Amino acid sequence: MNPLDHLVEPQEYPPPPALAAQAHVAGRAGYASLAAEAEEDHEAYWARLAREFVHWKRPFRKLLGTQNAPHYTWFEDGTLNVSWNCLDRQVAEGRGEKVAIIFEADDGHVTHTTYAQLLAMVCRLANMLKAQGVKKGDRVAIYMPMSVEAVACMQACARIGAIHTVVFGGFSAHSLRDRIADTGAVLVLTADEQMRGGKALSLKGVVDEALALGGCDAVRAVIVYRRTGGQIPWTDRDHWMHELTAAQPERCEPVWVEAEHPLFLLYTSGSTGKPKGVQHSSGGYLVQAAVTMKWTFDMHPQDVFWCTADIGWVTGHSYIAYGPLAIGATQLMFEGVPTWPNAGRFWQMIGRHRVTVFYTAPTAIRSLIKAAEANPQVHPQRYDLQSLRVLGSVGEPINPAAWEWYHRHVGGGRCPIVDTWWQTETGAHMITPLPGATSLVPGSCALPFPGIAAAIVDELGGDVPNGQSGLLVIKKPWPGMIRTIWGDDARYRASYFPAELRGYYLAGDGASRDRETGYFTIGGRIDDVLNVSGHRMGTMEIESALVACTELVAEAAVVGRPDETSGEAICAFVVLKGARPQGEAAAALAAQLRTWVGKEIGPIAKPKDIRFADNLPKTRSGKIMRRLLRSVAKGEAVTQDISTLENPAILHQLFETH
Ligand code: WTA
Repeated sequence: MNPLDHLVEPQEYPPPPALAAQAHVAGRAGYASLAAEAEEDHEAYWARLAREFVHWKRPFRKLLGTQNAPHYTWFEDGTLNVSWNCLDRQVAEGRGEKVAIIFEADDGHVTHTTYAQLLAMVCRLANMLKAQGVKKGDRVAIYMPMSVEAVACMQACARIGAIHTVVFGGFSAHSLRDRIADTGAVLVLTADEQMRGGKALSLKGVVDEALALGGCDAVRAVIVYRRTGGQIPWTDRDHWMHELTAAQPERCEPVWVEAEHPLFLLYTSGSTGKPKGVQHSSGGYLVQAAVTMKWTFDMHPQDVFWCTADIGWVTGHSYIAYGPLAIGATQLMFEGVPTWPNAGRFWQMIGRHRVTVFYTAPTAIRSLIKAAEANPQVHPQRYDLQSLRVLGSVGEPINPAAWEWYHRHVGGGRCPIVDTWWQTETGAHMITPLPGATSLVPGSCALPFPGIAAAIVDELGGDVPNGQSGLLVIKKPWPGMIRTIWGDDARYRASYFPAELRGYYLAGDGASRDRETGYFTIGGRIDDVLNVSGHRMGTMEIESALVACTELVAEAAVVGRPDETSGEAICAFVVLKGARPQGEAAAALAAQLRTWVGKEIGPIAKPKDIRFADNLPKTRSGKIMRRLLRSVAKGEAVTQDISTLENPAILHQLFETH
């Protein structure tokens, strides 16, 4: 992917001995004994961890439930409260004065919130939700900036058994409306504006627009966190969060819910135009979020953890809102962007807050490499990064050249990098090195987390030998797994448990295992899902957005092409209703369509390339030949068989218009 990659000799990095000596999972033997325990009795292994990591109000007796497979259940007869586990328990165990969240705002302003303070804040918010008539099982949409308040709102929902659906602040009014409508949310929690890179961006305004689009009839009120104090429109349905919470008591008895009670819905892209509402449980999800938090990052009480993801993605759910709090850790949370006021921001913040465990995405690393090459002032070696112990990577494959740079320049050659493979659907880490136990190979996410039955199979579910590529599957249910797609059980079964695969969970990624070590390397998505800067985007979603511009667009096909920084870039082939534009007219129309897609879905979905053609390459049966378009997008010679192509002449035009 990166031109430097072929220059990098694959090297193995054993765990640093000092780290391994103190690690929760220590050495190869530590890993092997856990893996063996899980192998011997999968359910008993997870039950042991469920008892160790989570406080249950009513202890469970049932372990894995398979009656309604593949809608599995875990610890079904147990009851718990997620927010009680994340907050009250920490205070009860003596961590009331420990800092839960160090928050650094876009402008550099820092606040510290202790566990006791966070608990009080969550209780006020939970009481406010109750006062608004929110009941167990009701859905609450959260469209908020990175803030302590946002985490507290998620926790407040959990406290009363309401199901939150967090919508990433970069999604447009249309996307927000679709999610509010699909969940039937009764409340929307938002902020006046969000601050990113010194600019104020509207959130409340987008909520107004979303609600005006219709279909959100269940929404009774919009509650607004005052972040900037900027001017915003106001209606009867709106309330200030600080006004509603001011009079609420600082205590709120948690609602004890069954283990399977949904904790949240989180929308993610699939192979069709409609995003899927991934439904997670309370019990199993919390167990796996907590265990992976502690073991993958080898977290100890003094650690300062920093996950740079947004709470709008699953990484921000499992490793900001829940995982760190569930184990009583201190974490740093950041409102802004890595490149403002300059591209040294991350490195400066690591030094400032003495961060020990840093978890970010390969795209961020690649863009900071570029920035450091252009400007030595923002090179990590100019900053104090001595506090770091463990580094992590998530969301997309990390290419070996970026891995080596991250290891050397950020980790000073002494910090293991955990390359964590997992998905919105898996809830938590699935395949990852453990810093004190696993030797690292750049570009490989190493071995399954103990208790995760990851494997590589062919189209019929047969095992593929090491050294060959195949489909990545999970052979046994795991506690943090998706329970269903909200309102669409059939789609859940068809997407993840296709009949030919013997009941295995189909991840949607291609992968292979090393011949000798059995280490996994992820090849990328095998479906029509793109991974742009670690964000999942469905090609069909972007196509639907383009053809929704009915005045201009007749037809559109979207494919991905490799990109040095963002991993993949979105490339759209568009057939217009009018004549095919050339030169400046083409550039202007492309800009117009980009803006359009930004409005329909959000800026992250804007195609990098838009090419206009008189037609799209199709088979005689009318199917668009996407593989061929992928070659065109990459600018490589077409090697596919084009004998089935109905309109071969179009190929010349596609190449010409480049
Ligand atoms: C990709 C993000 C390679 C993969 C947590 C997966 C990765 C999709 C890695 C899920 C990794 C995630 N190496 N690829 N370490 N982590 N992916 O749902 O294609 O936003 O299927 O969850 O990201 O993306 P999602």
